Parts: sequence; structure tokens; C-alpha cells
Amino acid sequence: MKPSDLRGILGYTTRFRDQTFVLAVDSAVLAGDQAGALLTDLSVLRSLNIRLVLGFGISRFLRDLAGRLGLSISDDQGMGVTDADTLATAVLAAGQVGNRLLEGLSASDLPAAVTNALVAHPAGILSGTDHEWTGRVERVDHGLLADLLGRGVIPLLPPVAYDGAGRTYRVNSDQAALAVATALKAAKLIYITTSRGVRGAGTLSGQFSVEEATAYLARHRSELAPDLVSKLDHGLRACRGGVARAHIINGLEPNALLDEIFSNEGVGTMIYANEYMAIRKARPRDLPALQRLIGESAELEQILPRGREDLAARMADFFVYEIDRNLVGCVGLRRYPDEADGVAELECLVVASAHENQGIGRRLMQFVENAAREQGHKSLLALSTQAFAFFLQKGGFREGTVSDLPPSRREAYEASQRRSRILVRDLG
Ligand SMILES: CC(C)(COP(=O)(O)OP(=O)(O)OC[C@H]1O[C@@H](n2cnc3c(N)ncnc32)[C@H](O)[C@@H]1OP(=O)(O)O)[C@@H](O)C(=O)NCCC(=O)NCCS
Repeated sequence: MKPSDLRGILGYTTRFRDQTFVLAVDSAVLAGDQAGALLTDLSVLRSLNIRLVLGFGISRFLRDLAGRLGLSISDDQGMGVTDADTLATAVLAAGQVGNRLLEGLSASDLPAAVTNALVAHPAGILSGTDHEWTGRVERVDHGLLADLLGRGVIPLLPPVAYDGAGRTYRVNSDQAALAVATALKAAKLIYITTSRGVRGAGTLSGQFSVEEATAYLARHRSELAPDLVSKLDHGLRACRGGVARAHIINGLEPNALLDEIFSNEGVGTMIYANEYMAIRKARPRDLPALQRLIGESAELEQILPRGREDLAARMADFFVYEIDRNLVGCVGLRRYPDEADGVAELECLVVASAHENQGIGRRLMQFVENAAREQGHKSLLALSTQAFAFFLQKGGFREGTVSDLPPSRREAYEASQRRSRILVRDLG
């Protein structure tokens, strides 16, 4: 990590302070190489005063234990039938995993407590089959969890739950995490599993609104692994139940948890309950994010590099596109009042690569076009080396020549080696 990355992280600290994140870790992740590092990363989140609840799965440990004990079990991750032997083994496995987590958290000086905050009832007879010791989470002891969280303790939630008569049931860990996240109105429910969800499977950069995720699931349900369908289903229900974000990340990848939380683009799949999207005027505090966005594009020679001073002086002419208070696009509108009153220039149109092809570039282009028209300009220029086809095909621009440029711009153009294509949009 570069020291300058800290600036990016600072933006999240006030946003997440005292928010609750519910994490649900699959047993395959806890059995893997990254388990220790993952627990250490929890101390980063705690140091930012993020309240954490940690749910966990046990299937991998349950199967190992059953193998060692020579038992034949019927574990279906708390969804199918749980017979008495499976329940007894599940209780042992839950104790084993809980202990492992307590050890890891102790090593990071993080106080934690295994709880009985999940109250369950029997799943009962489904399609004619008695599910025996499989339970459904009936309610969450909100007071108990809030109390622990208020004291800085991380509640641990095993996938076993209890009823009022003191009986134990095996419950599904995805469902348990969902119940807790909605009861606590968590800011995030994060499933830490062995895949990045549906990221990279022809989807919109792994970030979905509830509507998009619902449509995606309806189209692709039969092609996806059942475990992933469960995570998406539960994530969607969480978002519909008041949780702001549900994430699916690959806990076998190093740093996945922090990379997902502390970057706009993330590394997994995210479903967001409410989208805050807006184009607004740039403010001085946007300067670092603008510099980053423009700097990345300038490195690829897509646009001209901008110095900090130049950019700071021009902030009043810039507009930014925000998603969920993160800056993902920008555009500038340059005027030439002293030399060419009717002409303005659209400049520095950049969309973060993770957010491309979502219509943001077009919206920013349209926005600036409207602003130029409102200001009484007759034409809008754009100069581009790599995106000229975008302006021609998506923005109604036509090819122009140097004679379309105001004198000072022509001078700069001729002095530059970039040989950008000149595009003109008539605003009449
Ligand atoms: C050009 C840019 C702003 C487009 O942003 P975007 O948010 O991805 O654009 P949209 O989602 O609104 O539009 C996507 C459409 O434009 C097309 N498109 C994107 N970049 C293009 C390019 N360089 N040339 C031609 N077409 C392009 C896409 O293929 C897509 O077409 P489709 O709708 O027919 O599938 C973005 O790619 C970018 O930041 N590029 C680098 C900076 C740059 O060159 N800026 C222009 C100089 S000021």
C-alpha cells in the first residue's frame, strides 16, 4: 500500500463510523490460508469504529469431524434434513470453529463472544419430509447484540440456534446473517465465500441495484451454483429489508475484505438498496479524487494531464458524477469569453474504468451540452485522441478543423504534439 492510499481510505472513516457490518464467513474460507489475515483485517475495521458481527458456516468442519468419528451425517448446510447425529456433530463443529475464531481474534486483541442471539423454531415438515433438527431463525435478540456492540465486543454467531424450550437446531448461516443484518439495520451484509459472486460474468462491474440483481437472478438462476444463488437471494432480501449494501467476496483472495470496502470499484459483487447518483458542481474537497481520476486517464494518454494548481483554479468549471458519494466521473466546461463568446469546450470527460458502459459518459456529455446551451453558447468543442468516435457516434458531434478553435486554443493546439481530433457540436 502506498501512503497516498490513506487519503482514499480517510473518506470512508466518517462514513462508516459506528455503522454495523454483518460478516458471514464460509467454513471453506476459515479452513483456508487467508483465515488468519482475514481476522487481522477485522482489527482495521474495528479501529475505524465499525461495529462487527461475525457469523460463520461449519460445513467443512462438520464433514471432517463426521469422517473422523466414522459417522454418516445428512448435512445440507441447514437447509435439508438434520438428523440427531448430524445435529450432535454440528454442535461440536460449531464449538470448534467458534474456538478457532476466538483464538484468532484474541491474537488481534479483539474482544468477542459466542452468543445465543438467534432464536429458532423447527423448520418442520416440508413437502412431506420432516426436517427434524433443522431450524428456521424466528427472531434475533436485538438487545443482546446491541449491548455487545455498544461495548466494542464482536458477537459471534454459530449456525446453530435455540428455542424457548432450550432445544438446539441447525440453521443456515446465510439465513442467520440475513436475519441479524436486517434486525440491526446493518450498513453492510458481507458474505465472505469462495467466489467473487457474479463479477466478471458479463455483468455491470459486479455492482447491481436491487432491480438489476433481481432481473439478473431471474435470467441466470439455473446456470449459477446453488451456493451463489443462496448468497444472491439472501443479499437481495437484506437490501429489501433495510440493509444498505450486500456484498459477496472471495475470502480466499488476499485483502479481499479491505479492497471491497475501501474502493469504489470493489473486488466482489455488490447489491445496493438505494442508489445515490448525481451530477453536481465540483467542490474544493473533490480535488484529490479528481486528480486521481484525471491522472489515471492521462497516464493512458486519453486526456491531457492536469497539474494540481491548474485543476484547483478551474474547479468552478468542473462537474462530477457521484455514485453513493464516490466520485466516478467528471467533465469540465471551458469558456473563452474574451475571444470567442459563442464557443465553449467540453474538456476532461472521464469515467472511472470500473463504471464505463453504464451511460455515465453520455449523461455527463449531455449535462455539459445543456449547460453550454443555457449559457448562450452556439457551439461546443471537444478535442480527443482516443474517444473521438464516442463524441461522433453518441454525442451528435461532427468533425471540425483548427479554424473552429478560439485563437488561444488554436495556439495551444498547434504547439502540442497530440494531434487530437477536433469535434464540434452545433447548439443552435
Ligand atoms: C469516453 C468515455 C468518457 C465514455 O464513458 P462511458 O460512461 O463508458 O460511456 P457511456 O456508457 O455513456 O457510453 C458507452 C458507449 O460508448 C461507446 N464508447 C465508449 N468509449 C468509446 C470510444 N473511446 N470510442 C468509441 N465509442 C466508445 C461504448 O462502446 C458504448 O457503446 P454502446 O452504447 O453502443 O454499447 C470513457 O470511456 C472514458 O473516460 N474514456 C477516457 C477519457 C477520454 O478519452 N475522454 C474523452 C476526451 S475529453
